[in-house]
Amino acid sequence: MILTKITDTELLYLEQKRQEIDRLLDRYLPGEDVYPQTLHKAMRYSVLAGGKRIRPILTLTAYEVFGGSNPDLINPAVCSLEFVHTYSLIHDDLPCMDDDDLRRGLPTLHKKFDETTAVLAGDALHDLAFRLLAESNSARAVLELAKAIGTFGMLGGQMADVEAEGTDVTLEQIKFIHSHKTGALICAAVRIGAILAEVDEATLEKLSLYGEKIGLAFQIVDDILDVEGDKEKLGKNIGSDRKNQKATYPKVIGLNQSHQDVDRLIDEAVAISREFGLKDNRFITIAHFIGQRDK
Ligand code: IPE
Ligand code: IPE
Ligand code: MG
Ligand code: MG
Ligand code: MG
Repeated sequence: MILTKITDTELLYLEQKRQEIDRLLDRYLPGEDVYPQTLHKAMRYSVLAGGKRIRPILTLTAYEVFGGSNPDLINPAVCSLEFVHTYSLIHDDLPCMDDDDLRRGLPTLHKKFDETTAVLAGDALHDLAFRLLAESNSARAVLELAKAIGTFGMLGGQMADVEAEGTDVTLEQIKFIHSHKTGALICAAVRIGAILAEVDEATLEKLSLYGEKIGLAFQIVDDILDVEGDKEKLGKNIGSDRKNQKATYPKVIGLNQSHQDVDRLIDEAVAISREFGLKDNRFITIAHFIGQRDK
């Protein structure tokens, strides 16, 4: 299995989209001079610290690939994906969860501010996300996000992740954890873009398969980078999983097999993308990026 190496043109596409999304996020966040300033400063601190913006890029790309062209409709929806994601990171880093000090190259929110502010800023981003997504007037899109991050999605995965600490888990269990804590939101990001572009049900089903593959691959790579990655590039401390005795792919199946599983999942995602018969190959670009990322 030889993965096609991501090209400079593809990387440039992702970089341009990232910048476009950064501008939108800035626009939709409350100003830091608005009362209560601490909360708004904290929200802006975590969101604008950076990040790859892969979830909003997926939403925007799915919308555009399937012919959507209304920025007023898609822009708030795109931001909602990143706000929910950032909320999940803020809470994930808390002492009661993964207890991490570094995120996106900066002190984690509870270190920079305090735990109370971190809990509230996370909650506030969650709320802002749903407010913005509701502006799309698509109950289906709102339902999609709610399902993806609730007990049968991200939160269920986070609970299973914490409960698995210090235990031996099976491949089946780790797959459950990863596809829920991380895969569900990534899959929803693709689906929400496509739903807002009003794709047919068969296309949506196929896209879900694509989303599931890249979503699971994304978290396996996250586990690998926690072992083999570079702190400066990642903007977070490596070795956090070992410290917390987390259940990870490298722990369950080893690093080699983890790499192989990523390659296979990305190959499968690329094959699904080709089945759409689109001239536009941006789904392939994103799949390659997820498989090859080092940050
Ligand atoms: C980190 O997500 C947490 C996971 C779900 C693996 P990202 O790797 O997307 O983090 P940012 O948004 O680029 O900082
Ligand atoms: C995070 O998984 C999943 C969510 C935030 C929902 P990790 O705990 O592995 O993410 P990092 O490594 O802290 O970014
Ligand atoms: Mg975690
Ligand atoms: Mg963590
Ligand atoms: Mg991790």
